[in-house]
Amino acid sequence: MATATTGKTGILISFEGIDGAGKSTHIESLAQALRAQGRTLTLTREPGGTPLAEKLRLLLLHDPMDAMTEALLVFAARRDHLQTCIEPALARGDVVLCDRFTDATFAYQGGGRGFDLEMLSYLEQQVQVRQGLEANLIRHPDLTVWFDLAPEIAAVRLADARLPDRFEAQPLEFFSRVAQAYGQRQQADPGRFARIDANQPRESVWLAVQQAVQARGWLP
Ligand code: TYD
Repeated sequence: MATATTGKTGILISFEGIDGAGKSTHIESLAQALRAQGRTLTLTREPGGTPLAEKLRLLLLHDPMDAMTEALLVFAARRDHLQTCIEPALARGDVVLCDRFTDATFAYQGGGRGFDLEMLSYLEQQVQVRQGLEANLIRHPDLTVWFDLAPEIAAVRLADARLPDRFEAQPLEFFSRVAQAYGQRQQADPGRFARIDANQPRESVWLAVQQAVQARGWLP
């Protein structure tokens, strides 16, 4: 719905992919392109995006824990992020660019860790319910840009990176399961996803990102 103050409709775009797929620079470029169109941007990330959720991020990336604790902390962070950052920004009419969202939970906790997908779906329904609206309306991204890259190639890119966190330190098989789970998420909701072949020169990837946003009419 368009807001009374800006006349613009809030848009939520998430960015996904296995570690090393190279989404960060494109998020920044897209933010600039949208600002040039007069849009107001909220740039944020998960886990994180609020003071509380950033504390949970530190725990998630560095402290040992079991799979259920991990899943619950991810959703606890998301709840705070939605309530205090994302929903208010969308209500103002912002374009919210979110570096990872719930698809990452299905990919990493579901695919990677093997955590129960039904439990994740239940948490998704509870955490992402949009208050004040009719029952069963769940907040999902309007567009999910998925940087698809073979885990073998991502591993080479990550090898030069800084000290790995708890996820980046996982073996290749973990990322194969994560990548497969992203594919399943796309198949379950193909209209929401733009799959980008991330095994191309950066300029080609950027072109594909722009095309995905243009196809929705959000860039000329
Ligand atoms: P990432 O987004 O890759 O940030 P950076 O580029 O700074 O490393 O790191 C976040 C990590 O958290 C990533 O390895 C995926 C993981 N993660 C989950 O396991 N579940 C989730 O629900 C989310 C949002 C992220």
